[in-house]
Amino acid sequence: MVTFNFQHLAFNIQNLTLNPSQMAAYSQPMLRDNALQGKTIVVTGGGTGLGRAMTTYFLQLGANVTISSRKLDVLEKTAEELRQQTGGRVLAVQCDVRKYDEVENMLQRTINEFGGVDVLLNNAAGNFISPTERLSHKAFDVIVDIVLKGSYNCTLAFGKRWIADKKPGTILNIVTTYASVGSAYVVPSATAKAGVLALTRSLAVEWAKYGIRSNAIAPGPFPTEGAWSRLFPEPLAKKLDPAASVPLKRVGEHQELANLAAYLVSDFSAYMNGEVVTIDGGEWLNGAGEFNKLEIIPAPMWDEIEKTMRR
Ligand code: HXC
Ligand code: NAP
Repeated sequence: MVTFNFQHLAFNIQNLTLNPSQMAAYSQPMLRDNALQGKTIVVTGGGTGLGRAMTTYFLQLGANVTISSRKLDVLEKTAEELRQQTGGRVLAVQCDVRKYDEVENMLQRTINEFGGVDVLLNNAAGNFISPTERLSHKAFDVIVDIVLKGSYNCTLAFGKRWIADKKPGTILNIVTTYASVGSAYVVPSATAKAGVLALTRSLAVEWAKYGIRSNAIAPGPFPTEGAWSRLFPEPLAKKLDPAASVPLKRVGEHQELANLAAYLVSDFSAYMNGEVVTIDGGEWLNGAGEFNKLEIIPAPMWDEIEKTMRR
């Protein structure tokens, strides 16, 4: 017998009328139920921000997930909350990605817990804004070590294991849009992310013969406490609206990044290899196009401009 819950329907319709943005497709989970069932995924930096958002969705899709970073208390709290929220299996492992022995330990603990590992998501990062000439060499080191060395440490440890065990693997690297074009005031991060992009493309070719795919996502602005506190600190936050330079005039929602990541780590993307997928509402192209700044010209002024040109 088919029954309808009208109360529920009314509630949804009311929501649709009152707050259409809540119903936007990009805020909704995209893949079918159990799309990642049986997969084990390691997310570095998985206790906070975008790493946490991607982990949440992977668990909802049936994956087992190891989250790792330096702060065990943060990881354990997140793991417990996500177990409650999703009913999934989450392992929290302390690991500083700059230290190869800690990376090997994280890998081994994942295999002990889940019986294997299928996906490495290099998401851990460090960043802050500064004129480059103000940086000490240690400040440059700390960012490059977390982002580039951290990514290649994990990639090397996981790749060696997959190759030795004759198992396929999937690597997904979170870079930034400025990995391709560079950016002032975040030079260590831009330098390191460019290296991660090169790593992605190089190994996509070299390790394809072992059944290991490498792809990357280049996100534009997605609000997280970690990024916002370091890139838009108080005195700047009032002057810089991150959405203003995005042609779509909004920042990203975590679920839309999680949807893309879930696709790229799933077997549905089996023919994607060596790709970097930009998800930024058109932001970097807006900065790149010579005449994009003409967006500020009000429509009536174009009559005047055209007249002058034709004269
Ligand atoms: C100049 C700084 C600095 C700053 C630290 N240093 N902060 N220099 N300006 N704001 C210098 C220190 O003085 C020191 O050099 C060296 O850097 C190491 O600093 P520590 O504090 O000892 O390092 P550590 O405790 O390991 O912290 C690392 C960190 C921190 C990167 C500095 O911010 C962190 O833990 N970040 C992790 C999370 C994060 O950054 N998330 C944002 C990712 S956002 P000296 O010479 O004094 O010893 C992102 C998105 C980009 O990547 C795109 C957005 C659109
Ligand atoms: P975040 O919450 O600060 O995430 C960074 C994570 O990296 C934290 O969980 C941190 O945990 C971990 N980490 C830092 N150093 C580490 C180390 N040495 N070893 C292991 N883990 C370490 O910021 P986010 O915004 O979610 O960023 C996630 C990813 O998205 C990053 O790669 C970032 O570059 C990328 N990204 C973000 C945006 C954005 O707008 N948010 C845009 C483009 C790209 P611990 O402190 O516990 O170690």
